[in-house]
Amino acid sequence: MQDFDLVETDRLLMTTKQVRKRLDLTRPVPVDVVLDCIDVASRAPIGGNIEANRWVVVDDAKTISGLAACYREFGTDYLEAGRAQVEAGKVDATASRVVDSSIYLLEHLHEVPMIIIPIRQGRPEQSTFGQATFWGSVVPGVWSLQLALRARGIGTAWTTLHLYQENEAAELLGLPDTVTQIALLPTAYFTGDDFVPSRRRPAREVTYINRWNQPPT
Ligand SMILES: Cc1cc2nc3c(=O)[nH]c(=O)nc-3n(C[C@H](O)[C@H](O)[C@H](O)COP(=O)(O)O)c2cc1C
Repeated sequence: MQDFDLVETDRLLMTTKQVRKRLDLTRPVPVDVVLDCIDVASRAPIGGNIEANRWVVVDDAKTISGLAACYREFGTDYLEAGRAQVEAGKVDATASRVVDSSIYLLEHLHEVPMIIIPIRQGRPEQSTFGQATFWGSVVPGVWSLQLALRARGIGTAWTTLHLYQENEAAELLGLPDTVTQIALLPTAYFTGDDFVPSRRRPAREVTYINRWNQPPT
């Protein structure tokens, strides 16, 4: 039995974009709505079925401001370098748009109504197995959260630049050093109706059948 509307499901999956310029900075996001979405996101796969993921939902303006300062600390130079690449004509139009909207976010992050920091308890191990299990146990849930929020009209953007100031951010949030911040999601209702799917290479160009480099027929 086909019980999903595939058109709608695929639209959700393909149009859940990283929202930066279209975050509504004027409208608060109710924590209850986010809690509903976390209940959805908690159904994502987790290694060993061990529930070690946590979420810090920040709607306190002072803490948001502090996190934005952490973000700017490294992000400003990083994105200015990106801007220089754009001005030198070294990147394509898509990359240029990403730089432009990333700079917008950097300049407005302190104004967002909410930031969500997904957390995994523990620290990643060095081995490939350890890394894959650690990140693989938390990243699917974060993406599910982005999808669940987007279905409710709330946009997010996956960002990591604040992690250059990981300790400062941890201090603001009262995190112990036994846990790991996964990302920083600016969170706000989005403006406008819909999003255009990102341009990506077609499946046939990125998929091999049975063996490396063996394309589908
Ligand atoms: C692991 C990871 C880290 C990212 N870090 C940042 C970041 O710090 N700042 C930012 O503006 N975007 C960040 N992005 C977003 C990307 O730059 C890019 O905009 C995005 O993947 C394009 O997605 P879209 O097609 O959904 O818009 C990150 C994305 C990923 C997956």
